[in-house]
Amino acid sequence: MSYRLGEVILSRETISRRVKEMAAEIANDNGRDKGIVVVGILTGAAFFLTDLVREMPEDMDVRVDFMSVASYGDNTTSSGVVRIFHDLKSSIEGKNVLVVEDIVDSGLTLSHLIELLNGRHPASLKVCVLLDKYERRKTEVNVDYCGFRIPDKFVVGYGLDCAGMWRHLKDIKYVIEE
Ligand code: PRP
Repeated sequence: MSYRLGEVILSRETISRRVKEMAAEIANDNGRDKGIVVVGILTGAAFFLTDLVREMPEDMDVRVDFMSVASYGDNTTSSGVVRIFHDLKSSIEGKNVLVVEDIVDSGLTLSHLIELLNGRHPASLKVCVLLDKYERRKTEVNVDYCGFRIPDKFVVGYGLDCAGMWRHLKDIKYVIEE
């Protein structure tokens, strides 16, 4: 199977507009005086996260941390496991945490991750995703902020990859498999 880039599904302008809206909504909900720890899940979310936090007000207490995880489990195993490749640098106990993902698909990664992070006793835990492939959900996940709901099609760019490629695209595009 070979892959080539197809049409743009979300242009850089559309993404940028939505990212600004989301940052404003998060800042508004959180309150500027209350600190927020933005936790990016590597690798895909790094692209979205860096744009998102730069749209937050300068006087807001924003911290950034990253985690790299892989989720194991399928629809027959509800007690899924998250394997941590790279953990957070700082404790989130008593902190207001915002988990940032590029995409929620089956929901397994996020649901396992939420359970894991809740076990560390944050003051609050919210979830922000750029893309929601809602048709593929296998487990329920509570998403507080969602950029775009998209169809179950292969897409790349703005952090999303195809075998490691095309993360660096400014627009999000369809992939054509042939
Ligand atoms: C993607 C995405 C989520 C996960 C979502 O990561 O960033 O972590 O898949 O899928 P799920 O809802 O079915 O669990 P991926 O494993 O592709 O890693 P990457 O960010 O390094 O590309």
